[in-house]
Amino acid sequence: MARLPTPRAGAPLMADLLWLDGAFLPAESGRVSFEDRGFQFADGIYEVVACFDGEPFMIEEHLDRFDASAAGLLIDPDYSRDARREVILELAHRSPARDTMIYGQLTRGAAPRSHVFPAAHVHPTELWHARPLPTYPPEYHQKGVGLISHPDERWANCHLKTISLLPNILAKEKAKRAGCFEALFYNTEGIVTECGASNAWAVVDGEIRTHPLTHAILGGITRILILELARELNLRVNETAATLDVFRCAEEVFLSSTTVGALPVAGIDGRPVGSGTPGPITRALMAALDERIASVRAGMGART
Ligand code: PDD
Repeated sequence: MARLPTPRAGAPLMADLLWLDGAFLPAESGRVSFEDRGFQFADGIYEVVACFDGEPFMIEEHLDRFDASAAGLLIDPDYSRDARREVILELAHRSPARDTMIYGQLTRGAAPRSHVFPAAHVHPTELWHARPLPTYPPEYHQKGVGLISHPDERWANCHLKTISLLPNILAKEKAKRAGCFEALFYNTEGIVTECGASNAWAVVDGEIRTHPLTHAILGGITRILILELARELNLRVNETAATLDVFRCAEEVFLSSTTVGALPVAGIDGRPVGSGTPGPITRALMAALDERIASVRAGMGART
């Protein structure tokens, strides 16, 4: 395992800081080979970690998923989990933004283009990049967002967080052009899996429904937390799949991800969900999530 260089003490805060294959550098000077298999084949994985007041949120869960995604693609990183944690902490602490989004990517590395893995060992390319956490207009969380329904056109291993995201980006772009925030994916049986870049939840007869953890969805880190918060709030949760019709007729629908937290859904395909405004269960979960983040800010998080 390669060791990390120790960053200079008192290194300047940088808004757009990159760590690439062992070195911290300004993001604009980061270069990757045109033969990198991430560029050629989308042969790689990624992670997105939120940091609040310099504290990475649920970092161990993100590191677990990074390891699982890398193993799923048979990529053996040069750097250890401990080294990776140090890099994330360093980026979080050096970022001048109050809240930071740290993006990490690992590819199989650069080699002459050939579908099969390179014969000789190549170094996987690993990078971590910090920039301010995206913010959304306050009305998104106050009033809810719109969704379009969209066939799930992805592959059979959506539990791996791969950089191969064409069906996701095309669907999200379609949603944007329809004036909506997200695309709600349904499979050939009419079952809702998740969204283009978030997990999907419905409240039916007071019970919270979400797709079980299978290869059909990404195991969201925010999903883990929402399940935990729901239990703390004594809410009923049922991890069983639901059809698009169930979602359309639900009392409440909401989304979850690292960047949006819990986000209420006001309508699907132009028709209101429930009252068309954020429902009580969604609001309770949003408040509980805010509280958890506030405790991390105060340095009291059960998780960091
Ligand atoms: N997306 N499902 C998909 C397909 C996702 O891309 C994401 C996250 C999630 C939610 O996972 P988490 O709670 O760990 O963020 C579910 C990230 C934010 C992205 O691609 O930018």
